[in-house]
Amino acid sequence: MSLESPWKQNPWFESIAVAQARARRRLPRPVYDALLAGSERGQTVEANQAAFADLGWVPHVAGQQAERAQTRTLLGVELSSPVVISPTGVQAVHPDGEVAVARAAASRGTIMGLSNFASKSVEEVTATGATTFFQMYWTGDRDVMVQRMERAHRAGVRGLIATLDWSFSVGRDWGSPEIPERVDLRTMVRMAPQVATKVRWMRQFGRAFRETGRLPDLTAPNLARPGEAAPTFFGAYYQWMTTPPPSWHDVAWMVETWRQISGTPFMLKGVSRVDDAHRAVDAGVDAISVSNHGGNNLDGTPAAIRLLHPVVGAVGDQIEVVMDGGVRRGSDVVKALALGARAVMIGRAYLWGLAANGQAGVENVLDLLRGGIDSGLMGLGLASIDELRPEHLLIPEGFHVHGGVEAPVRI
Ligand SMILES: Cc1cc2nc3c(=O)[nH]c(=O)nc-3n(C[C@H](O)[C@H](O)[C@H](O)COP(=O)(O)O)c2cc1C
Repeated sequence: MSLESPWKQNPWFESIAVAQARARRRLPRPVYDALLAGSERGQTVEANQAAFADLGWVPHVAGQQAERAQTRTLLGVELSSPVVISPTGVQAVHPDGEVAVARAAASRGTIMGLSNFASKSVEEVTATGATTFFQMYWTGDRDVMVQRMERAHRAGVRGLIATLDWSFSVGRDWGSPEIPERVDLRTMVRMAPQVATKVRWMRQFGRAFRETGRLPDLTAPNLARPGEAAPTFFGAYYQWMTTPPPSWHDVAWMVETWRQISGTPFMLKGVSRVDDAHRAVDAGVDAISVSNHGGNNLDGTPAAIRLLHPVVGAVGDQIEVVMDGGVRRGSDVVKALALGARAVMIGRAYLWGLAANGQAGVENVLDLLRGGIDSGLMGLGLASIDELRPEHLLIPEGFHVHGGVEAPVRI
């Protein structure tokens, strides 16, 4: 007979806000703050979520569809629902990190975006069977970037995501979390007051330590040179900071190099402006993500959902356009699709799920979004996400923001 406490918390959560509240209770403060992220005033990170609430709709009372479809193809990959895992440098949220996220992505039939700043290697992640897209920043010289692309291709990834929207903005008004260079005994003693009360989080890592003999790694194994140890997070960040920013010729080089190495799709992530969307088309990309890095790049960038529709209007007939930033519920996904996104990518939503309940927590998040999409379609009387149009939404005047000039500038 089980003597489980009747007051034990049900690990399932009903909304992403509840998952976030659990993550907040569970994680040491610096780890929670690292996921919260944001830059400068935190204006864009807030705007990303708030803008979805500005879009409304009016549901039907009868005549809804009994069957509602939400499958979609993105860059040749069949998705069971139009929600993709956006790459994030997960760090010490959970001992299984990106491997747990990849397993959840595979079990729910979606793409796993793996950050080059991830704490698990691309080989460990593709071994889960998840359809993985590898993400790269413009960091290091071309030879090193080719080595990284070749390694990702050998590991079996199915596409490349180049994320270029990063301006190294420094300083947050609410202060940045301390991220240790290495997690050794000295660091643990120093940070003990912040982690000592986080019993469940410590227990998870204790279990992982007993099994593997390793402490959580704050290194970036996918940025290691062949035969060398993985750089620390700060070592990797320094290389990135000191790499001269890419030109549009460099972007075209990256696209072409990836095409020759792998022949699989290339997505440019972080486009905010219509003129950049045109340039991305000229550089030969297969897809772009309209994104402001979840409000972590230049603060004051408008909400990603406001930038979406003009970009779709400009290039949506030439390449696939997805968006990310602020998605916290299925209704947000429906709104983004109605404004022309082929799919959305999520960041913090699954990180909260991972922190709250590991792989099952990420699956919980994907299930909640699926359920919310289904409710949205039902209320709107639609049988499929393919039927979604801007006319299904109440869009306040001035909602859309046209970023940048219209005329394409050749690379
Ligand atoms: C903690 C954190 C780490 C991130 N790391 C990366 C990264 O390594 N590479 C990348 O392309 N984007 C990264 N992003 C941005 C996400 O991929 C995505 O664009 C963003 O989180 C979407 O906004 P959302 O969190 O509101 O869903 C990160 C975001 C967060 C919150």
